[in-house]
Amino acid sequence: MSAVAKRVITFGTFDVFHVGHLKLLERARERGGSLTVGVSSDDLNYDKKGRYPVYDQAERMLLIGALRVVDGVFLEESLEQKRDYIIEHEADILVMGDDWSGKFNYLSDICEVVYLPRTPAISTTAVIEKIRH
Ligand code: CTP
Repeated sequence: MSAVAKRVITFGTFDVFHVGHLKLLERARERGGSLTVGVSSDDLNYDKKGRYPVYDQAERMLLIGALRVVDGVFLEESLEQKRDYIIEHEADILVMGDDWSGKFNYLSDICEVVYLPRTPAISTTAVIEKIRH
C-alpha cells in the first residue's frame, strides 16, 4: 500500500522574486507531494510591512504559479484566515520561513507546522535598497 502524498501549503508576498524565495518554495515542495502557495494581497502586504509591493498581486500570482515546484496559487487576503485557507486547501503541512518562528504553532491541531531557515543575506527589502542606491 503506498502512502498518500502530503499536501504542503505556504504563504508570503514574494515581491521582487529572488533566490531566497525560490529556495523556500523548493524546500517546502520537498516536504510533500504538492505545494499550494497563498500569495499575500497588496493590502495585506501594506498591513504587514507598511508598503505596497513593487509587483501587484496579479503579477506575483502569475510568477509564483508558473514555477515548476508550485502546484497552485491563491490570494491570501488576511493573516487571520490562515486556518480557513489550510482547511479549504486540505493542507497537511504548513511551511513558513523562520522569520515567523512560533507564530503559527496554534494551527498544529489541524496540520504539521514547519519553519525553515531563511536563506542568508537576501530579501526583497535588500534588493530594493540595492537598486535604489
Ligand atoms: N524567505 C527565505 N529566505 C529569504 C527571504 C525570504 O526563506 N532570504 C522566505 C520567507 O521566510 C517567507 C517567504 O520566503 O517564508 C516569503 O518571504 P517574503 O516576506 O515575501 O520575502 P522577503 O524577502 O523576506 O521580503 P521583505 O524584505 O519585504 O520582508
